Amino acid sequence: MGAQLIDGKAIAAAKRQAMKTRIESMKAQGFVPGLAVILVGENPASMSYVKGKIRDCKEVGIYSELIRFPETVTEERLLAEIDKLNEDKTIHGILVQLPLPSQISEQKVIQAIRPEKDVDGFHPINVGRLVTKQEGFVSCTPAGIIEMLKAIDVPVAGKHVVVVGRSNIVGKPASLLFLNLDATVTICHSKTKPLSKYTQQADILVAAVGREALIHAEDIKPGAIVIDVGMNRNAAGKLVGDVAFEEVKEKAGFITPVPGGVGPMTRVMLLENTLLAADRQNKKG
Ligand code: GUN
Repeated sequence: MGAQLIDGKAIAAAKRQAMKTRIESMKAQGFVPGLAVILVGENPASMSYVKGKIRDCKEVGIYSELIRFPETVTEERLLAEIDKLNEDKTIHGILVQLPLPSQISEQKVIQAIRPEKDVDGFHPINVGRLVTKQEGFVSCTPAGIIEMLKAIDVPVAGKHVVVVGRSNIVGKPASLLFLNLDATVTICHSKTKPLSKYTQQADILVAAVGREALIHAEDIKPGAIVIDVGMNRNAAGKLVGDVAFEEVKEKAGFITPVPGGVGPMTRVMLLENTLLAADRQNKKG
């Protein structure tokens, strides 16, 4: 294998370990950070993500509440719950697991969360803060990608970063974060033609489309840093990314595995955002 593996699982574990000490000292001052997670329905992937988030909170000592609603819940009921959590002093972060059923407007729900408690960084106020480089909350996956690059000591300024994917959760905020760090950023998407013309120019390539084997060895520059955000099931039911790992790892300089790369970093950044929210709310009193 040519590339060095970026071990997201190990980086995230070290970050959780460091957090435990921070949380202990918060608790010693009589302050417990709290996260509320809302899950609607029984989508197996969402249930598994949410279980992981609650387990992570327990591990580091963050108080967590899981609030579940049936698939048929009304938008009004959900918004009422968010209002209650907005006022709850024991809750510093609120996360509503997406996707939501069709009778509920995701944007209305996101915008109902007080920006100070929006640990997903999805509220337009926090997106606007990212655009204008002000302090706010940044979506967990892009924040986790930056943390991984920091962990391997790779400076971003002046690098050409190519982001494939333009979702609100990953592609757009990742592009803005890299731009704020003085990278030159190209955003590609499903209508980009030919995709490889752009990906081949990347010093850092972020693949965030959700399509198995979208990126092959011929699509990258030798020595590139390849960040795989994809979470796809292949024909054998195995979890795979957007990058054809076996061939790309021979040509890349660094590469993230799936699983064990971006996924654990996303999870740990939710904990970081919750602590940040708790700190900020504690300071405000
Ligand atoms: N569904 C898939 N990813 C996410 C995420 O990062 N946050 C929320 N709230 N829902 C998701």
